[in-house]
Amino acid sequence: MEAWDERAVRERLRCAGQEHLLRFCADLAPGPRAALLAELGPLEPDVLREHCRRAAAAHGRPSGPGPDLAARLQPLPPDRLGSATRCHPDTRRRWEEEGLHQIALGKVAVLLLAGGQGTRLGVPYPKGMYQVGLPSQKSLYSCRPRGSGGAAVAGERFGTRCIVPWYIMTSEFTLEPTAKFFQEHDFFHLDPANVVMFEQRMLPAVTFDGRAILERKDKVAMAPDGNGGLYCALADHQILEDMEQRGVEFVHVYCVDNILVRLPDPLFIGFCVCQGSDCGTKVVEKAYPEEPVGVVCQVDGVPQVVEYNEMDPETVQLRAPSGALLFSAGNICNHFFTRAFLRRVTSEYEPLLQPHVAVKKVPYVDEEGNSVTPKAPNGIKMEKFVFDVFPFAKNFVAFEVPREEEFSPLKNGDLAARDSPTTARQALLWQHYRWAVQAGARFLNINGVLLPDQPPSLPDQGEPPAVCEISPLVSCFGEGLEEYLRGREFQTPLLLDEKEARALHP
Ligand code: UTP
Repeated sequence: MEAWDERAVRERLRCAGQEHLLRFCADLAPGPRAALLAELGPLEPDVLREHCRRAAAAHGRPSGPGPDLAARLQPLPPDRLGSATRCHPDTRRRWEEEGLHQIALGKVAVLLLAGGQGTRLGVPYPKGMYQVGLPSQKSLYSCRPRGSGGAAVAGERFGTRCIVPWYIMTSEFTLEPTAKFFQEHDFFHLDPANVVMFEQRMLPAVTFDGRAILERKDKVAMAPDGNGGLYCALADHQILEDMEQRGVEFVHVYCVDNILVRLPDPLFIGFCVCQGSDCGTKVVEKAYPEEPVGVVCQVDGVPQVVEYNEMDPETVQLRAPSGALLFSAGNICNHFFTRAFLRRVTSEYEPLLQPHVAVKKVPYVDEEGNSVTPKAPNGIKMEKFVFDVFPFAKNFVAFEVPREEEFSPLKNGDLAARDSPTTARQALLWQHYRWAVQAGARFLNINGVLLPDQPPSLPDQGEPPAVCEISPLVSCFGEGLEEYLRGREFQTPLLLDEKEARALHP
């Protein structure tokens, strides 16, 4: 921790109009005082002043894509939209082959956004460490050894050992526990040299009249600057230079909370590369018109994500002649970027990104120094979003994938009806059950009764008929399971890990 002189910090805060942050400094013991000064010292006065001014000014002003949105909104044109399921099998094979080839050449990296505070889930540790209750007791960080999925398949296909570097953006909240967790788990058998953690910036929460908030006498209420803080963080930590040295050209970016993420996905990467795209995104068809997900579409002909609450109710309901929702391309925070595009973003476009305003209840200390937990929102957090760069792409594409195979986010605690630990666990177990049955396995239920051998065509709500979990070290995407499973009957639950696989196919 760098030692900061109180007078120097006070002067910097005075220039920023935020001197009140030191109002309890004289009451503090030397340790907490030094910690507070170390937190405040590095904040650039101009940047802090501008941040507080912008937050207050943005509060109450409508955010989003501006007026008359309905008239300016269009779905993505068909030539910008691919599909994993509606393409010709030969085309699909070509895309997949291209993606595997790029992975085998070492040109692909994966990048995890893991700096969020996970307030809705409400656990006091990073969301990636959360266990949703799988038979293997794996956490979100470990239930897929990230980077090894597509790498393992590409290695098999091209007979080479593929390295897919794993970049992990953390924040002040998540860096230390995440790094410790990885060390305790032996980096999930990956070479630590290929796992690069870096930290995003933090910004103070601000009152509606533009004053940064003290959370405790010795601590400012800081929050990470949103997952769009990625672009500043890439520049702050010379991550693009690191990618260049490793020969990385394509980056597959994803969120920590999607338990079904395919990573790196040869099909998606191959599709984007074959389209010559600099920036691409996966989408799933919206489940119902009011589903609260952002929609990938065009505003004034420019691709972007429009949040569900920014569209008016009539637009949300519009249907295409086919009967499908007109604005149905749901954003799942799973993106493709070329390194060259990321370079342009960090050097040119990042300052143009408009922060989004989130009005939150921010705990604070009152004038007497008492801690207060507000009952109503009292503060503003400013965030940038990772998809805010879509409008700057020269050749933007979207790729529609089946939800039941690719998207089940963990956002909420188990009291919620959706996006909870239970729904995430069930989604993964349904997927693995379908893979196993397709590979020829048959299951006995807990009463020893043989279950029907056809998997239901659509994933159901609730628990799957049998519990089956397949380790990603055995199969990444459901491939190659026949040799272990065809023609065999299994008692539920089945955990097909490497040991069980060796026993089934020595
Ligand atoms: P969410 O927007 O769901 O936020 O993040 P969250 O922090 O996980 O959860 P809540 O909203 O507090 O409940 C989507 C993804 O973006 C990352 C998260 O870690 C998650 O992978 N993220 C979010 C960051 O990396 N940095 C941020 O500042 C915010």
